Amino acid sequence: MRHFIIDCDTAEDDVASIFMLSKYGMKLDAVTIVEGNVSFQQQITNALWALEQVGYKDVPVFPGSKRPIVKNFSTVEEVHGKSGLGEITPSSKRKPENKHAVQAIIELSHQFKGELEILAISPLTNLALAYLLDNTLPERIKKVWIMGGTAFSHGNITPVAEYNFWVDPDAARIVFNAGFNTTMVPWDVVIKYTIDDNEWNQIKNMRTRLSELYVKMFSHYRQYDKEVQKLDGHPHPDLLTTAAAINPEITEITKKEYVVIDNSDSLTRGMTLIDHFDSDRPWSNSPNTEIVYSIKKEILLDMIKKMLSE
Ligand code: BDR
Ligand code: CA
Repeated sequence: MRHFIIDCDTAEDDVASIFMLSKYGMKLDAVTIVEGNVSFQQQITNALWALEQVGYKDVPVFPGSKRPIVKNFSTVEEVHGKSGLGEITPSSKRKPENKHAVQAIIELSHQFKGELEILAISPLTNLALAYLLDNTLPERIKKVWIMGGTAFSHGNITPVAEYNFWVDPDAARIVFNAGFNTTMVPWDVVIKYTIDDNEWNQIKNMRTRLSELYVKMFSHYRQYDKEVQKLDGHPHPDLLTTAAAINPEITEITKKEYVVIDNSDSLTRGMTLIDHFDSDRPWSNSPNTEIVYSIKKEILLDMIKKMLSE
């Protein structure tokens, strides 16, 4: 059995990741919340609500860092809608845990030593803080799946930066230097695999409980992506990362490379710098992550349809 933590800033695509883990029978040991897409309290409510929609009613939710380590940041309700879930206004009677997310991550890393995988689909503040508190953490974590950054410097929050790394570039820098076993799924790879109008209509026509939730959750985001990001549909940054974690057959081209994040207060804040040369060229740094450059779209679509089949 595979053990996961989802570290998220719970908007629609983070929620879809919870749905997919559940559908594929993964053991979800915790959801940890970090600053990001919408208000912190809303993100907690969204996570509790999402867990109740699938078979994860008892999965604990641990609130983590409410702000980046050094910089200020902005939430992005214009992208995800006021609640973060488009047309849905979620609620839950359940309460989050009192324990801090960082403490929970460290404790779970001992409990499931060498087995725990972290889906880091949000700013990396919680993970960086956990590492700063316990430098041996990377030795006990099997894998960190990171949604963030860019492969070709095509950003979404600025021309060159992706949102998760832009929010807390200091945390991202720490995590990539910490020695975790990481796979990174960049924004400008993810946007090659949007859900186009035909696929959107196929999902609408499924008319299952979860497909109807999906359509309500993603309609606002879809409109934003078409109008502002000039995409032909909506992409699945977090969900694609989750699909890659669940099913290795989805990834096509990956490369191990050296990555560093710009944490300056400049036009390039949050930019991902990748040494695309072999390690004996200019920077001569060893690769510190695996980067996903392409995936098989038909597998992603099949997994989404399976996820929404009930
Ligand atoms: C990432 O930022 C958030 O808006 C999404 O949840 C995703 O994790 C995409 O840049
Ligand atoms: Ca996210």
